[in-house]
Amino acid sequence: MKDMTDLNTGPLDEEARRILRLNDKGGYTVPTAGLYPYQWNWDSAFAAIGFATFDTDRAWVELETLFSAQWDNGMVPHIIFHVDDDGYFPGPDVWSTSNAVGRGAQRLKSSGVSQPPVAASLAWKVYESDPELGEARLRALYPKMVAFHRWIMEARAESGAVCITHPWEAGRDNAPDWDEAMAGIDPVGVGAYTRRDTGHVDAKMRPTQADYDRYIWLVQFGRDRDWDDAKIAAESPFRVADPTMTFTCLRSLRDLAQAADALAEPRAEIDGWIATLEAGVETLWNPETQSYEGRNLRTGNFSGSVSNAGALCWWAGLDREEARHTLDQVLARSNYGVPSYDPAGPAFDHLRYWRGPVWAIMNYMAAKGMAEAGLGAQADRIRRDTARLIAERGFAEYFSPVDGTPAGGGTFTWTAAVWLAWASPSAQEN
Ligand code: DGY
Repeated sequence: MKDMTDLNTGPLDEEARRILRLNDKGGYTVPTAGLYPYQWNWDSAFAAIGFATFDTDRAWVELETLFSAQWDNGMVPHIIFHVDDDGYFPGPDVWSTSNAVGRGAQRLKSSGVSQPPVAASLAWKVYESDPELGEARLRALYPKMVAFHRWIMEARAESGAVCITHPWEAGRDNAPDWDEAMAGIDPVGVGAYTRRDTGHVDAKMRPTQADYDRYIWLVQFGRDRDWDDAKIAAESPFRVADPTMTFTCLRSLRDLAQAADALAEPRAEIDGWIATLEAGVETLWNPETQSYEGRNLRTGNFSGSVSNAGALCWWAGLDREEARHTLDQVLARSNYGVPSYDPAGPAFDHLRYWRGPVWAIMNYMAAKGMAEAGLGAQADRIRRDTARLIAERGFAEYFSPVDGTPAGGGTFTWTAAVWLAWASPSAQEN
């Protein structure tokens, strides 16, 4: 096994910067050309910490463009369709958000669901990298970030944890966390459509056709209700409390509270949300698997899925002995950090997207949180393994936790960003 000191960092850092510039469409960055030709919410927030390592102004622009698509109700959509591109499905015509209840005066075309709210945490990191340049930018973004979190707490947190209305909202599209809720959908009436993702990427690395039929069914379900949060909450068969949303939200609220202090803004409302989530997150703890998991709000059932989303508890500022034990067991079964699903679990599939592969962004958040919680050995190992993986296998979207096979899209923005901000031996964030 190579040690980090063996890595020839210069060319890798240069390649990572080249990827960010390559995917920069002027004010926003696509995750990768072809497969994802628009601006994605959490991808963009990660792009910002990559840009911050060599162009802080550009980092702020990325976040500002993201929030320029915010709806009147505070929601920040998961995809912003700045341009037309028929290489992706489902595009803006399928989402059809122009009459959406919460959209208000917003004119940019977008999807009708959100994504894990990492933006406030990563904006705080960009600010910390250059507080002098960042203060005015942070001040301008701050009320928008607060409004985003207010929307999450009002529209998605009825169980105390944060839930999703579509698997795409969690960012972990085909995670086993949603299997029960997805099985409860009969995708009748979806109609004919052509998937575009499998034209870009090997189908064995992507969600199944049964998953896709349900993804599209859920888009049509939301669209038929004009993306009205209250109607969707009351009527949808799919409503799952999610550790990704909950932990990233809790971490972002803690970072927003720091921003409030730095800007001399009141923080009582934010502190209230933190208290709500700190209590609510306990509803996601499954004593049987000893991990934080997705929980189907329609049945109350846990998913039984030990995942890298559960391992974000430390990123959220939480800790428990049993979670540490589970983590050590899972890490022993992976060669490259925290897998998206436990390799010992029955649904494990080492290349299929969120049913096994490791993701640099998840390794980053998990390890950063572990380091803060005093789990230094685990955090160091994850960082070293992520660096080795990228150095040996390139800037892929995700990788097999077993043999490191690069999977999904290539020249991937957030893998390059996480390299520059953290995994590279030259990175500042250690
Ligand atoms: C996709 O198209 O695969 C995306 O994950 C949806 O956000």
